[in-house]
Amino acid sequence: MELEEKARLVAEALVESEYTVVLTGAGVSADSGVPTFRGRDGLWKRYRPEELATPEAFARDPVTVWEWYKWRMEIIHKARPNDAHYTIAWLEDKGLVKAVITQNVDGLHQRAGSRNVIELHGSIWRVLCTGCSYTGTLDKPPESVPPRCPRCGGLLRPGVVWFGEPLPADAVRRAMEEALRARLILVVGTSGVVEPAGIIPLIVAENGGRIVNVNPEPNRYTGVAWVNVEARAAPFFRILRRRVEELL
Ligand code: OAD
Repeated sequence: MELEEKARLVAEALVESEYTVVLTGAGVSADSGVPTFRGRDGLWKRYRPEELATPEAFARDPVTVWEWYKWRMEIIHKARPNDAHYTIAWLEDKGLVKAVITQNVDGLHQRAGSRNVIELHGSIWRVLCTGCSYTGTLDKPPESVPPRCPRCGGLLRPGVVWFGEPLPADAVRRAMEEALRARLILVVGTSGVVEPAGIIPLIVAENGGRIVNVNPEPNRYTGVAWVNVEARAAPFFRILRRRVEELL
């Protein structure tokens, strides 16, 4: 099936669906120049997660961990949302998408205008003090690393979820509620291998809902999706927006 034809099918499903949610992963930001974790140019090809994204790594070497996060913050700071982020925000405006559940920490959905965003893995722009209860939000990468707490001078850490850490309970609860209500889920740019996020589309399918899987590569959902859109997110969502506009 051609991309145009798939976009028409997905547009019709969106307009007819009673409750649609979106689940995104690193691939939705790939067209904005933000690297993904897995796959050909994925970060986990070049870096070892156990040296950069665990509480033990941070306790051992906070400067190295912060340098890596600062580098990623610089990429994200310069990046702009792409047509996938913008179309998802526009669909929410039109009432056709109820929530965006994201594994991303880059904040690009919010910058594109999405309002009901559930951040399962935290935000790269949040900082938490390891010495007191201070939490804050940065609007640009820190000048020097590791940044210090403005209240107690303690070591700040990135407000992201590391391997071995629990996800924010409120975000998990909201995401599961959305999954249980959804009749259609657009799964965009995720490999689906990290739990519990990875199970969300399967909950929707288990309840008789449909999965639209937007990913240029095969992934965990290829065999169960109602439609597999084998394309990059930004060009597909550009076409999808036009097809939805024709139906409204
Ligand atoms: P992954 O890096 O595992 O997967 C990215 C997916 O995006 C792959 O399936 C690619 O095929 C796809 N992709 C690449 N370019 C794309 C494009 N232009 N348009 C659409 N899709 C594209 O990223 P996640 O699934 O988000 O966790 O990874 C989940 C979690 O693993 C991350 O949140 C992070 C990581 O370790 C934490 O940091 C806790």
